[in-house]
Amino acid sequence: MSRAAGVTVRAPAKVNLVLEVGPPLPTGYHDLATVFHAVSLYDEVTATPAGPGPHATEVTVSVEGPGAGDVPLDERNLAVRAALLIGDRSGAFEPAHLHIRKGIPVAGGMAGGSADAAAALVACDALWKAGLSRAELLELAAELGSDVPFALLGGTAVGTGRGTELTPALARGDYDWVVALAGVGLSTPAVFRELDRLRAGRVLPEPRVASALMQALRRGDAESVGALLANDLQPAAVSLLPDLERTLEVGSEYGALGGVVSGSGPTVVFLARDAEHALDLSVALTASGAAAEVQRAHGPVPGARIVDGGRS
Ligand code: C5P
Repeated sequence: MSRAAGVTVRAPAKVNLVLEVGPPLPTGYHDLATVFHAVSLYDEVTATPAGPGPHATEVTVSVEGPGAGDVPLDERNLAVRAALLIGDRSGAFEPAHLHIRKGIPVAGGMAGGSADAAAALVACDALWKAGLSRAELLELAAELGSDVPFALLGGTAVGTGRGTELTPALARGDYDWVVALAGVGLSTPAVFRELDRLRAGRVLPEPRVASALMQALRRGDAESVGALLANDLQPAAVSLLPDLERTLEVGSEYGALGGVVSGSGPTVVFLARDAEHALDLSVALTASGAAAEVQRAHGPVPGARIVDGGRS
């Protein structure tokens, strides 16, 4: 029964099928219009009781997996902040340890930190029997970061405002993705700043998601979805990391239905025709040397879910 002492939650990475960014706001944020799509790269967070002792008021954390060394182990860690927030608001706080298993690239523009925060919310809610509703968890998620609510929700969804106002999208079919990692990270605020610099003085339209993409998703039309992939942050990410241009070119040479920088990058995602094409494309990208590492994923997949423990 010792396994029941901990709760393990799995949360997915996201790609943005489109990402339109408005002008900078006085809040330091930008209004967005985006379509989030959860893909099958996952982080897992296990929350266990830490018991009384020197850490009685704390949440401690450990991290394993690729890029683990770059993940902070203090309150800069979004999963720790999530645990402290839900502990505080629910009044159910108890000392806990979080163990994070990374499967989502660190600082890759795929919302790995946000996935950890969403997983920590669900895990601590179950561990402490806090009993928060889905709506309450989504509210806490929005306080933690712009991509955290979507990591709870999963699937395919339109995001507006800061990215936290979500509407599930009607989407048919399963999509095969090839994920090209750059081997270095990009800072999200730096990419937004670069975008503002590149667009300084321009009058920008209100961000909105094109209806053509929503229709293509409704039809399950991968060819059209591929052709409509777009990201306002891409020129900024490419400006900071010019090698991304070549990665995008290689994907297109090998017949990707579309390719786009994911979120603030530097990960580039390509939509393949099917699983076999995704394999061919990933081999070609690896052989070209245009990506530090290549992975395959499919989507949409569900948001943060308990995979072990949490029932007693
Ligand atoms: O919300 P989150 O902490 O994930 O955002 C990280 C950074 O990304 C923000 O500090 C801001 O610089 C930028 N951002 C933005 N507009 C958004 C979302 C994020 O400018 N809607």
